[in-house]
Amino acid sequence: MPELSIRYETFPDPQVLSAADQALLTAATAALPHSYSPYSNFKVAAAARLEDGTVVAAANTENAAYPMCICAEPNTMAAAAALRPGKPVVAMAITVRAPGRILSAPASPCGSCRQILSEHESRFGHKMRLILRAETGPVYVFDSASDLLPFGFSGELL
Ligand code: THU
Repeated sequence: MPELSIRYETFPDPQVLSAADQALLTAATAALPHSYSPYSNFKVAAAARLEDGTVVAAANTENAAYPMCICAEPNTMAAAAALRPGKPVVAMAITVRAPGRILSAPASPCGSCRQILSEHESRFGHKMRLILRAETGPVYVFDSASDLLPFGFSGELL
């Protein structure tokens, strides 16, 4: 029977990351206060690094019409596309915060976000490194966003 496995790295804390990856996580953390999440009270922020080292960050933006909520990841991808049109995002750090409790396990991008990040990789033929961490606890690093979406729907079929 075919079997799938996903490779990723775990680090006990961000200090063992490269300076660039630490800075990306710091940028994501700095964007958490920009979260507009009065309905879930769950803050998510992402920071994207472009090839030239530019970093852009954004947070989740909720709406009273719940399905209209925008996750932090697509908000960040849109900000990057506006700032540097046509340039690939090469790394993204994602962090989360829930007021009143300390989260210590990294949160993964939702399925819809994975689809967006994965298509960005195929569009630009460039992997996007993912760096995930909660407020405290370990860091998970994935070489490629597509690693989180095996058997994802692909435009090659269309
Ligand atoms: N959220 C994100 O921003 N990214 C994800 O990948 C998963 C969920 C947001 C959406 C909503 O504002 C809140 O987290 C709770 O679901």
